[in-house]
Amino acid sequence: MADTDDLKETHDYHLDIPQRAQPFPLKGCDSLDWGMKNRLSRIFAPTTGRTVMLAVDHGYFMGPTTGLERIDVTINPLLPYADTLMCTRGVLRALTPATFTKGVSLRASGGPSILKELSDERIAVDIEDALRLNVAAMAVQVFVGGEFETQSIHNLTRLVDQGLRYGLPVLGVTAVGKDLARDAKYMRLATRICAELGATFVKTYYVDKGFESVTAACPVPIVIAGGKKQPEADALTMAYNAIQQGAAGVDMGRNIFQSDAPAAMIQAVGKVVHDGFSPREAFAFYQDLKQDIKTAR
Ligand code: R5P
Repeated sequence: MADTDDLKETHDYHLDIPQRAQPFPLKGCDSLDWGMKNRLSRIFAPTTGRTVMLAVDHGYFMGPTTGLERIDVTINPLLPYADTLMCTRGVLRALTPATFTKGVSLRASGGPSILKELSDERIAVDIEDALRLNVAAMAVQVFVGGEFETQSIHNLTRLVDQGLRYGLPVLGVTAVGKDLARDAKYMRLATRICAELGATFVKTYYVDKGFESVTAACPVPIVIAGGKKQPEADALTMAYNAIQQGAAGVDMGRNIFQSDAPAAMIQAVGKVVHDGFSPREAFAFYQDLKQDIKTAR
């Protein structure tokens, strides 16, 4: 029975306070629907508007990449330090604890292995399954200038249409073919095409010259891939420069899981992305943590 005895009769409608909507912290995303923004908030930390995405989807075309041979052993211990995990549905179902409640960016395109023409991808996940897995975004490779450029862009636009229907963001991943120059001109072209055709956010590579023009010309958030493994100090410098020049975070794989101390490295990257650490401060933090972890063993 409803308890009406103590029902309060006084009300405060705060008539002097106009209702205000908080601006959404991600660029170009303000007009998105609530579900889309809520999912983006599981990728980009609402406190900083930035993200450390841990990319471990390499196996979808490379097989058991160095550092990813046993994802349960090497990657799961890093999950507490990531804002988001980027992986395939195979890895998600087989190896990722369902107690991981942060955002998942699901690899949603695939097809060719490293033995074939990589741009010949198709959509590899039904949106129904992405929703069943409760992921925060679907990621699709876009090969601007590649042999199957149009097909890969069609993969993006199909996923964008489906994502808009259900409130699921799409990450457009710019893949640079072997014969293409990795410069600001190419990155501007590729990222802008992804954004114009509806990608909610875009992943690209950092370039030393003119990266700020890439982020400026892209109307939605950009995250950078880490690329090939480099010394930790260099990878931290790259992350720092990218953030200073307008990136909203990193989607980093090999420079974390192939590091001498992956747990220390991902935390150091987090300090750069979220706490404004300089490369020098972040590298010192990495070294200290690496030593602590070694001592604790
Ligand atoms: C590779 O194709 C995947 O999309 C990776 O997620 C991406 O390249 C980021 O990983 P890494 O930092 O190792 O380049």
